[in-house]
Amino acid sequence: MNVLVVGGGGREHALVWKIAQSPLVERVYCAPGNPGIATLATCVDIGVNDFDRLIPFVKEHDIALTVVGPEVPLTRGIADRFAEEGLKVFGPSAGAAQLEGSKAFAKDLMRRYNIPTAAYAEFDDADAAIAYVEEQGAPIVVKADGLAAGKGVTVARTIDEAVGAIREAMTDRVFGDAGAKVVIEECLVGEEASILAFSDGATVVPMVASQDHKPVDDGDRGPNTGGMGAYSPAPVVSAALLDEVERTVLRPCIEGMDRDGHPYKGILYAGLMISENGPKVVEFNVRFGDPETQVVLPRMTSDLVPVFLACCDGTLADAAVEWDDGACVTVVMASGGYPKTYEKGKTITGIEAAEREEGVTVFHAGTKLADGQLVTNGGRVLNVTASGPDVASTIAKAYRAVEQIAFDKAHHRTDIGQKALARLGV
Ligand code: AMP
Ligand code: GLY
Repeated sequence: MNVLVVGGGGREHALVWKIAQSPLVERVYCAPGNPGIATLATCVDIGVNDFDRLIPFVKEHDIALTVVGPEVPLTRGIADRFAEEGLKVFGPSAGAAQLEGSKAFAKDLMRRYNIPTAAYAEFDDADAAIAYVEEQGAPIVVKADGLAAGKGVTVARTIDEAVGAIREAMTDRVFGDAGAKVVIEECLVGEEASILAFSDGATVVPMVASQDHKPVDDGDRGPNTGGMGAYSPAPVVSAALLDEVERTVLRPCIEGMDRDGHPYKGILYAGLMISENGPKVVEFNVRFGDPETQVVLPRMTSDLVPVFLACCDGTLADAAVEWDDGACVTVVMASGGYPKTYEKGKTITGIEAAEREEGVTVFHAGTKLADGQLVTNGGRVLNVTASGPDVASTIAKAYRAVEQIAFDKAHHRTDIGQKALARLGV
């Protein structure tokens, strides 16, 4: 069969890489894709939100399954539009995607179904929000309700900082309408972990746990980014903890969504804080994480395509979902200046040399071809990914690969995975 992947970053490169290994798959297409993806799939220049062009493309190319990477087309109803056309699509409906599209929606669901999360209040009036912050004190977390490309959250250490975040979101509207409402929540303390799970609306199957590194600089300093690196397994998530998350977070969420009339089919991503009082949900996302996907899929030993089909068809309980016992680490190489302004168009060298070592794969996140040369085309440029038997040797392998690659003003964190080593006592 033919498969289309919607998106064009490192997450979609990893998806295409895994899908292309399936014996069920004849051709893989990607819209819009990138030069790394183009080595494995046919890239088509159609934007992720251009449903009016994606639908005829899928029909013309006999595509039996479309897999959606990013959240924006999901919140805009790509799954609903495809379903209306009788096309098979992996990803939740717009109604179900509110779980990521509105923090107030997600918090309300968690409250009603007793899913552990930070205490909160929501406001559509800035003065009321400020009065609440003054009453609660700092530290406190201010979140724009809607989608803000990962930038709508402020963990405020002081009341002034929280008030500033409220004014920015609600009065200055720096995130547009996403800031018309804010959620203000208790500041959780602990170590973060990401648990991604498959769901067919009734059954939920968690994947192996991973950990992202959001701040731009070593030691978790500096502003937040889309993610500077990741590793799996995350030793903070023991087998017992994973069971607890399945029982107290994933299953109640899927059951609650069904009861509320939004049966959930697709990837359910739980961003967790592992606190002294157990795991608490920091956020839900309705898609694969980026860069978590780049370290989770390489550990999957079973075929991904039948799992996607089972989620679409409601037969996930019968699907094989298996993982290796090894480790996977990805280091993001970013453009100078990212996550603030940065230049594009810098020539990239050394990817082939990096991939010469067994177990190294370089996923492209923000690249393009200019006059036949590979150049930078985004903030996060490459996800230099290594697989190996254990976390320590795999971190070393990933960094050996990073050393092979160069572009002007490239930067990366040098401490990806160190939290795992600290916890393992290595
Ligand atoms: P989000 O976009 O909701 O994932 O939030 C971005 C980051 O802000 C998270 O990865 C956490 O590091 C942090 N964060 C969000 N909510 C809280 C909270 N209630 N307590 C502490 N940190 C938080
Ligand atoms: N890595 C964080 C995210 O995908 O939202």
